[in-house]
Amino acid sequence: VRRVRTHHLREMKERGERFAMLTAYEMYAAQTFDEAGIQVLLVGDSASNNVYGNETSLPVTVDELVPLVRAVTRSARRALVVADLPFGSYQASPEQAFHTAVRFMKEANAHAVKLEGGTEMVPQVEKLTQSGIPVMAHIGFTPQSEHTLGGYRVQGRGDTATRVLDSAKAMEAAGAFALVMEMVPGDVAEKVTAELTIPTIGIGAGPHCDGQVLVWQDAFGLRTGRMAKFVKQYADVHGVLLDAARRYAADVADGSFPGPEHTF
Ligand code: KIV
Ligand code: NA
Repeated sequence: VRRVRTHHLREMKERGERFAMLTAYEMYAAQTFDEAGIQVLLVGDSASNNVYGNETSLPVTVDELVPLVRAVTRSARRALVVADLPFGSYQASPEQAFHTAVRFMKEANAHAVKLEGGTEMVPQVEKLTQSGIPVMAHIGFTPQSEHTLGGYRVQGRGDTATRVLDSAKAMEAAGAFALVMEMVPGDVAEKVTAELTIPTIGIGAGPHCDGQVLVWQDAFGLRTGRMAKFVKQYADVHGVLLDAARRYAADVADGSFPGPEHTF
């Protein structure tokens, strides 16, 4: 099997073909999504709230994410594996971004890194790309800036649309190979996608992006509760696990498991 490379995503954009990205944080999810043909796996800092039990993405650390990235790169035979740089690990300077990205590349075999921010992140993106580290940018609603942005809100409505376009162009010019746009109006994302040569990847950014990304625990129903408008539910993994765990507990309680066929 041939590894998906950053240039393949750009070629797909040129051919008008869409690609899919999902989060993955461990072996079986990575293997399964890879087998399904998902082109890009993101070890997101969303592991903070989907693996480590935090309420937001802010607390997760590089030390916590490195082993998860290592598990995913060991498990994905074909997918491009992107490591998310967590809050506080790259904003201080291009040098800080470089040292953090190098940890993900050397200790976890990441194929690329992702960071949040637009024009203000140009020095970081230039430093990384000039050092041979592919960078995926992330603009629009950026969860690490939740407290500045005033919670989960659509970005780029009305007058602020030009700011989204400017950020997108700055990331492309700085050398990013792809651009995630989160919670951006569909018409704004469409314009950005048309004006960039690098592929765009939407999450709550409408149907005109070159690719789409979702957090798998949301899309496949491991997490329950209120979902953002942009999430489509493809499965009820929580329901499957809950039912299995309840039947197992009941079988143990009434002595019907283990049966003779499970006994040496
Ligand atoms: O951490 C994450 O899961 C992400 C995606 C939703 C883009 O950044
Ligand atoms: Na993220």
